[in-house]
Amino acid sequence: MLLENKNIAITGSGRGIGKYIALLCAKEGANIGLTSRTLGDLNKVKNEIEKINTGVKISVHEGDITDLVQVKTIFKNFHEDLGPLNGVVANAGWHDTQPSLTYDLNVFRKILDVHIMGVYYTFRASYPYLKIDDKKDKARFVLTGSMYFLATMAITRPFRLPYIIAEYGLVGLMKALTKEFKKDNITFNMVVPQTTDTFLTRGENAEDGNKPSLFLNPWDVSVYYLFLLSEYANNYNFKLLNSFDFEEVKKIISEAPSDKKNSIDDFFEYFKIKNENVYQNVKNLSKFIEFLLRYPHAPSLLLSV
Ligand SMILES: NC(=O)c1ccc[n+]([C@@H]2O[C@H](COP(=O)([O-])OP(=O)(O)OC[C@H]3O[C@@H](n4cnc5c(N)ncnc54)[C@H](OP(=O)(O)O)[C@@H]3O)[C@@H](O)[C@H]2O)c1
Repeated sequence: MLLENKNIAITGSGRGIGKYIALLCAKEGANIGLTSRTLGDLNKVKNEIEKINTGVKISVHEGDITDLVQVKTIFKNFHEDLGPLNGVVANAGWHDTQPSLTYDLNVFRKILDVHIMGVYYTFRASYPYLKIDDKKDKARFVLTGSMYFLATMAITRPFRLPYIIAEYGLVGLMKALTKEFKKDNITFNMVVPQTTDTFLTRGENAEDGNKPSLFLNPWDVSVYYLFLLSEYANNYNFKLLNSFDFEEVKKIISEAPSDKKNSIDDFFEYFKIKNENVYQNVKNLSKFIEFLLRYPHAPSLLLSV
């Protein structure tokens, strides 16, 4: 198991992407801290984890990520229940679409609060409990970003001003923390998912089996987090894993003949011919590609529960 005895806390883990990160990490042996504002959702995820792996501890504490006092209490409780944290995933999020000139200011501020202040509070509140005493096994702070920080998406999809500001801001926040904490044994990395079938994008219809074909399933992205939390990513710092590129890598891996998957060099030769553009985008992230070669079915493990 990839995360045996690790303690991983995930914000926004009551549903959607955060829920599947929690399920996959628990499947891989991690003790899990679950948090969002809705205790009922968190307890449902706890029950699902218990079906997957009875040997892990699960700590459930609800609260609002935009309130530092609440976030501090949540992480203090996680520490009491689980011990020092090996990884924290700052994933809670919410957004709305309105025209920029008439955007409701309370909603505008709330989006910035959840995505910027919420992630900052998550780091500030979790830092005292992060296990940062081992250079070979660094603590991980993983952020969920969004394609909206990429210029093309921001231009093609209007009415998302605070969300787009927040997504650019998160990259800046990550950069600043990476620099300030570079002497600590802690890394900062981001998963950048494309549109995913969750409550955020499809409301109550999420996971009804009728998602638009270009949408990802929430479990598709969970493997990105598993990698960043695992020993394979110990030396990854300030990396952004863009799902547009890596979903293509997964597809190429699934179609590649087995003799092209024996080593990263064999695969790279094949990959370059199949899609030169994506190859150029990801060739410096070869550890993740090696990981995908080795664990191509990691997310689907969940479906066999
Ligand atoms: N779905 C996509 O297409 C997509 C694409 C790129 C990035 N993302 C990002 O992925 C992350 C997860 O989103 P999702 O798609 O999985 O959405 P989701 O299914 O709506 O889940 C969002 C989670 O965040 C929690 N949350 C929201 N506001 C909160 C607050 N103020 N305090 C504490 N928890 C809060 C929600 O629980 P409560 O409401 O119960 O608190 C829920 O557990 C977000 O950061 C989102 O921006 C999503």
